[in-house]
Amino acid sequence: MATVAELLQPVEVDLETLLSDLRHLIGAGHPILQAAAEHLFSAGGKRLRPGIVLLISRALSADGELGARHRRLAEITEMIHTASLVHDDVVDEAATRRGVATVHSRFNHRVAVLAGDFLFAQASWHLANLDNLEVVKLLSRVIMDLADGEIRQGLFRYDTGQTFATYLEKSYCKTASLIANSCRAAGVLSGLADGRLDDLYRFGRQLGLAFQVVDDILDFTGSDQQLGKPAASDLASGYLTAPALYAMEEHPALAGLIEREFCESGDLEQALQLVRGSEAIGRSRALAQEFARDAAEALSWLPPSECRGALLQLPEFVLSRLY
Ligand code: IPE
Ligand code: IPE
Ligand code: MG
Ligand code: MG
Repeated sequence: MATVAELLQPVEVDLETLLSDLRHLIGAGHPILQAAAEHLFSAGGKRLRPGIVLLISRALSADGELGARHRRLAEITEMIHTASLVHDDVVDEAATRRGVATVHSRFNHRVAVLAGDFLFAQASWHLANLDNLEVVKLLSRVIMDLADGEIRQGLFRYDTGQTFATYLEKSYCKTASLIANSCRAAGVLSGLADGRLDDLYRFGRQLGLAFQVVDDILDFTGSDQQLGKPAASDLASGYLTAPALYAMEEHPALAGLIEREFCESGDLEQALQLVRGSEAIGRSRALAQEFARDAAEALSWLPPSECRGALLQLPEFVLSRLY
């Protein structure tokens, strides 16, 4: 299976431009926030979200060329994503991200809160300046969803009574909403009809859900080094993701360990072992496969092009992170 760089190859030059534009946009003003943003944007993010926006934009363009507004949309998408990660790492007390120290551990919490706010604010400003009310509505909804998802996740910590639907709603808010709505927004800027916009949204939504389920599996199966961020941290923080929810069905004893918040020594190790040794990982993988299949189907109508080819391979790439 192709690597992410190979898949995004049709927009590689666009992504280089994007990175230098982002540095420019963020750079103005505050030296400390600039240092924080620089620190983040030079670390190895996959740039998957702007990559998707750029691929869709090029795939939809009659002459294959990219407009300034589509470029700006891609930048806004990465700004919102990065802002959400800076805040997420504060909430999760995570020490590493993209293989380097998180903003709050490299600088401090004050800087991380302000840097996240600053990025969200910049994103909103550039969003408004696209002068397209429909796109403003789509992306400002995403910022609402991100906060909603983060709050929801906090409310359901260690709650073994939560349903699978709750987990999926949270995952939509935290991850799928940004991808879905930015795909749709790319279509809006290209003047597509509503039916096609729905297809773009569905592609992003299902791909985003597959991505989050895969990320949740990797938290159980990956290493810190592989992930560039702390592994085995979701369950320890009380976040019950697909593997943990499935494993509880198989091993009711797991719920007991979670409910007492792993307060006795060896609790967490035992819980991790129960999840890793159960059918839960396989069932989660099957769930991600279902979302990925659905995502690929949603874009079959795109006219043939290199970018279309890359987009149709993306769901498979998301799954391949597991192997
Ligand atoms: C991390 O997203 C947050 C999740 C939705 C799991 P990515 O894995 O795309 O993060 P970067 O941008 O490549 O660092
Ligand atoms: C995704 O949630 C982060 C956001 C979309 C805000 P996670 O908490 O699962 O992300 P990681 O695991 O820290 O990358
Ligand atoms: Mg996190
Ligand atoms: Mg995670």
